[in-house]
Amino acid sequence: MSDITAGWFDPSEYLIAGQWHDAPATLPIEDPSTGAEIGAIARCGAAEVSDAVAAAQTALDGEWGGLTAAERGRTLLRLSRLIEERAEALAMLEARDVGKPLTQARADARALARYMEFYGGAADKIAGQTLPYLDGYTVYTLREPHGVTGHIIPWNYPMQIIGRSVGAALAMGNACVLKPAEEACLTALAFARLAVEAGLPPGALNVVPGTGEEAGAALSRNPGVRHLSFTGSAGVGTLIQQAAAHNITPVTLELGGKSPQIVFADADLDAAMPFLLSAGIQNAGQTCSASSRILVERPLWEEAMARMSEAYTKLTTAPALEDADLGPLISARQKQIVQGYLSRDEGLQLLAEGHVSQSAPAAGHYIAPRLYATTDPANILAQEEIFGPVQVMIPFEGEEQAVAIANGTGYGLVASIWSENGARQMRMAKRLKAGQVFINNYGAGGGVELPFGGVGRSGHGREKGFEALYGFSQLKTVAAKHG
Ligand code: NAI
Ligand code: MG
Repeated sequence: MSDITAGWFDPSEYLIAGQWHDAPATLPIEDPSTGAEIGAIARCGAAEVSDAVAAAQTALDGEWGGLTAAERGRTLLRLSRLIEERAEALAMLEARDVGKPLTQARADARALARYMEFYGGAADKIAGQTLPYLDGYTVYTLREPHGVTGHIIPWNYPMQIIGRSVGAALAMGNACVLKPAEEACLTALAFARLAVEAGLPPGALNVVPGTGEEAGAALSRNPGVRHLSFTGSAGVGTLIQQAAAHNITPVTLELGGKSPQIVFADADLDAAMPFLLSAGIQNAGQTCSASSRILVERPLWEEAMARMSEAYTKLTTAPALEDADLGPLISARQKQIVQGYLSRDEGLQLLAEGHVSQSAPAAGHYIAPRLYATTDPANILAQEEIFGPVQVMIPFEGEEQAVAIANGTGYGLVASIWSENGARQMRMAKRLKAGQVFINNYGAGGGVELPFGGVGRSGHGREKGFEALYGFSQLKTVAAKHG
């Protein structure tokens, strides 16, 4: 058993039909802060995934499928309270497993509880419509669950992403098969323990850890799965959409981005500064909605560069439990990906760099955050998702150029506009290609109420808010002819 879950649960077990099973094989758990192996998780394969999908279907045909919407909601509300009670323990697990500074891990645990509260409260408030039609007809719509839903989760924000996808799917009455990322499974397993404790009927949630190529691929091609949600890389998103196509299974894909913050000359730079910085370095830049591009209008360019550079020189990267500005990256592989980009930084000016704390063990996956400037928006570091603590500043002149640069990567997840001019805010908000646009802020505190998702290479479908409940359901039209 792992030292960090000792006294709570054995992380090498997986959950099917309400039963915890021994692993058929295992994968190591690594602490990215130290590089040390701290336990093992199950390496489930096609057989376990197939059993999990069957168990989910049995739950739909039995106790889970028979609950009223209000009963489903109450179960999620009980789960929300259990998560709140164990929030500190969940945050510790996440900090060790992901290398996330403790304050950020605590925020994720609170968000998970809040998702269960929001979707628990929403479960019995989703309704169809009655539609005016021909004389002698009564027509109405029903919102029904898809059935078995598959959830393939990345390692960067396990709690938040489980909250927004599994929470909404359960509220709508689907039964879930969850495949967490092999790099970070612990909070998914803890969440499932708490769900069982909250009285979630057997099979409504099944958890099958394993690799993407084995468990993930088996889940995405299983014909019993009637909806797939995936957050991760665009490459794997493409594979999942292809696998789903064979079964005509709908997919929700959230594939990251290259999100800009656009600072106009009339912006309140004092107000903008904390957002410009934190949206780039949060979770060491391993955030789908990270703001990796800072566009600044010429009159503010020199001042913005100077202030951002000064802020960067004060940044510290340290072990997660030291709760510094940044923790390590998730893995040696992720560090290699980021360093690969940094080695291709020709055409960019390195403005400033933070530092790695002396306390950081050599075997951890640390990297100092870097701030660059370029006048070439087509530079590879200004185009591709690096998924590390790297921001690129780009100057512009006027709205037209700001829109062209902002919309010029193929991605479109989020964007923000910093300006005191109301008409410009409205014009820009309409023209930006993104699923979320923020005016004089970035992220709006991450509210669970706010629909979230991408356009273009950032994916399709919406999670969070009420909108997610529509995505996790099908609409049936009933037309009765009664004369
Ligand atoms: P990934 O896309 O490979 O992993 C995400 C999830 O997909 C994991 O649960 C993984 O097991 C699963 N998966 C992998 N291959 C699969 C397959 N063939 N079929 C089904 N499921 C599969 O991401 P990875 O390799 O961890 O990170 C690589 C890059 O992806 C990062 O550098 C970053 O650019 C991007 N990424 C974006 C995320 C986001 O939040 N948008 C999250 C994680 C990664
Ligand atoms: Mg780990």
